[in-house]
Amino acid sequence: MGKRDAAYPGSFDPITNGHVNIVERVSERFNKIYVIVMNNPNKNYLFSLSERFEMVKQDFEHLKNVVVDVYDGLLVDYLKKHKIYNLIRGLRAVSDFEYELQMAHANKTLLPELEVFFLIADTKYSFISSSMIKEIAQYGGDVSKWVSNSVGNKLKEKLLQ
Ligand code: PNS
Repeated sequence: MGKRDAAYPGSFDPITNGHVNIVERVSERFNKIYVIVMNNPNKNYLFSLSERFEMVKQDFEHLKNVVVDVYDGLLVDYLKKHKIYNLIRGLRAVSDFEYELQMAHANKTLLPELEVFFLIADTKYSFISSSMIKEIAQYGGDVSKWVSNSVGNKLKEKLLQ
């Protein structure tokens, strides 16, 4: 618990170097970052919650102040339970904004103590998404610029068997 802890929730289907970049940048400015692997009920996932959790854990082994957790429930319930009042989300393009704004307002209404911080994605990652990476990997394309080796292998196992 602490004012200087923050949460970075997401689907991570799968985790990309863009996600890792956001957390690397905020990890220097907060005490502890809770990366929470969650479900968005409107999405169909390629990887199960526990497969996504394992991949995320592996991608953050190098960051000592990052805790990776999994939660199949309402985000604000997790935040209340752990007394986390800072939320991090990344923004790539204007197209992300409407959804993010809606989610930020909903979460802030449910948990008024919450503050939401948006980080602009690094230029290198501003056009990639988990969906695009899955599409490229599905046709045997090279995704090594955007995901870790272990995630790349999991994508191959899942999509090219
Ligand atoms: O990576 P995503 O899919 O953009 O992440 C969205 C996610 C998982 C953070 C969001 O769907 C979420 O918070 N899901 C948990 C359920 C919840 O609290 N929904 C209300 C959000 S306003």
